[in-house]
Amino acid sequence: MKIIIINGPNLNLLGKREPEIYGSLTFDAFLKGLQRKYTGVEITYYQSNIEGELIDKLQEVGFSYDGIILNAAAYTHTSVGIGDAVKAITTPVIEVHISNTFTRESFRHQSFISAGAKGIIIGFGLKSYELALQSFL
Ligand code: DQA
Repeated sequence: MKIIIINGPNLNLLGKREPEIYGSLTFDAFLKGLQRKYTGVEITYYQSNIEGELIDKLQEVGFSYDGIILNAAAYTHTSVGIGDAVKAITTPVIEVHISNTFTRESFRHQSFISAGAKGIIIGFGLKSYELALQSFL
């Protein structure tokens, strides 16, 4: 089974970015743990701070992979283009967020991703990614 985790802008700073909201673990360390735990799954990872690059990656993997775990970060709340890409591809997408966006500023309550997603997992810290992975399994 081939699963990809796609992270959007500023998630490369996990570990040092607002640790009171996003925790103090780097995504690299978290990913290594996930890959060690789920050896039967091919888990690849992509991160970009650039909207078009995220769309390109969704198009590239979105007809062949078994699942996409997508945290579009701030673009979740702004990007019609990423939302359209999620709808255009055939690989199921699970939208995840580390923080509970509904307990935060109102601009974070809107998502352009959700309508095209298979499901949504929000607010469980980095565990959100693992829950998404388990749902694919
Ligand atoms: C986030 C929530 C977004 O509102 C924010 O812009 C992020 C991270 C999360 O995982 O909690 O960058 O997607």
